[in-house]
Amino acid sequence: MDNTKIHVFDTTLRDGEQVPGCQLNTEEKVEIAKDLESLGVDVIEAGFPVSSPGDFNSVSEISKNVKESIICGLSRAVVMDIDTAAMALKEAKRKRLHTGIGASDMHIKYKFNSTREKILAQAVSAVKYSRKYFDDIEFYAEDAGRADQDFLAKMVEEVIKAGATVINIPDTTGYTLPEAYGSKINFLMNNVPNIDKAILSVHCHNDLGLATANTLSGIQNGARQVEVTMNGIGERAGNTSLEEITMILKAHPYLKLYSEIDTLKIVELSKKVSRMMNMPVQRNKAIVGENAFSHSSGIHQDGFLKHRENYEIIDPSELGIDKSSIDLTARSGRAALKHRLSILGFKLTKFEMETIYADFLTLADKRKLLHDEDLYEIMEKKNGK
Ligand code: KIV
Ligand code: ZN
Repeated sequence: MDNTKIHVFDTTLRDGEQVPGCQLNTEEKVEIAKDLESLGVDVIEAGFPVSSPGDFNSVSEISKNVKESIICGLSRAVVMDIDTAAMALKEAKRKRLHTGIGASDMHIKYKFNSTREKILAQAVSAVKYSRKYFDDIEFYAEDAGRADQDFLAKMVEEVIKAGATVINIPDTTGYTLPEAYGSKINFLMNNVPNIDKAILSVHCHNDLGLATANTLSGIQNGARQVEVTMNGIGERAGNTSLEEITMILKAHPYLKLYSEIDTLKIVELSKKVSRMMNMPVQRNKAIVGENAFSHSSGIHQDGFLKHRENYEIIDPSELGIDKSSIDLTARSGRAALKHRLSILGFKLTKFEMETIYADFLTLADKRKLLHDEDLYEIMEKKNGK
């Protein structure tokens, strides 16, 4: 296996779509799934088939329409869920079951009112049963972030013996800190005797704003699959965002890790997902936010105009964005104003520039963000028109 490849498991249509207000119909889900496939996603988690007839139908339609990516269905560690997921995924060219159960004492006691021994037995028997339908079985140890390390290692070992090939270690509640999450993955890599028979997967939630940092820490410690969503949508504060992890791998080649995501298609899909799921992307969101490649302070604009890399670590053309933008506000300096005016065809002497800059600041204090029309207005006034 290529140990430098990071497998991208997208759960926009499952963890993302379960957010209130983000629901999509089957046709819309098929459209997004095809886009995810052409983006280069390795696995598409298409839904939770037992949850509703609509979700069952969506998983089944996506299975018929997507040929390259693996199509995955979620289930609890119960026979009815597994049977239903198997039916929904029947026509998938490449299919995976994602089954699992709580691993933390919190979930074992307060969610299942059970014991570690019984939960372990249920996990193993669910994986064994799944083999009736699936070769590719991913097991999730829910709330692994808060689970006891030794019990988690035991659970991972036993489900691998039972036939699981990918093991998801979710930080379900977004509680874990990057160092602790990374050392959890490291502990599993070094203490589960049969870990070479499976891939560890990281699935992080953003409750403390750490989803991306935790995901990165997980892959730096040996995980080779990341579970992500477009724009980071997902339960509560969301999941790790696909675009952030993808661009981290690009921006830091010394990590010697890569994904097969076609970065040129990210922005377009981000916009489509935002529109279809009624979930606006915050302006300052990393990579896909409106301000991600716009420069507004005078010092930054001057440095950027001298040499793009003074203030940009990502070339926007890698994302299909034709250029960065310079916002003209009262915080802009002469360099940015001169640059914009020269694009509009105005060549000014140093002396002329001083008076125009003063007029520019007066107007910018009033109107906040100035556009080309405002600059024409200033120039017309100067020329006495
Ligand atoms: O956050 C979580 O634990 C999940 C599991 C169902 C994988 O989404
Ligand atoms: Zn989740």
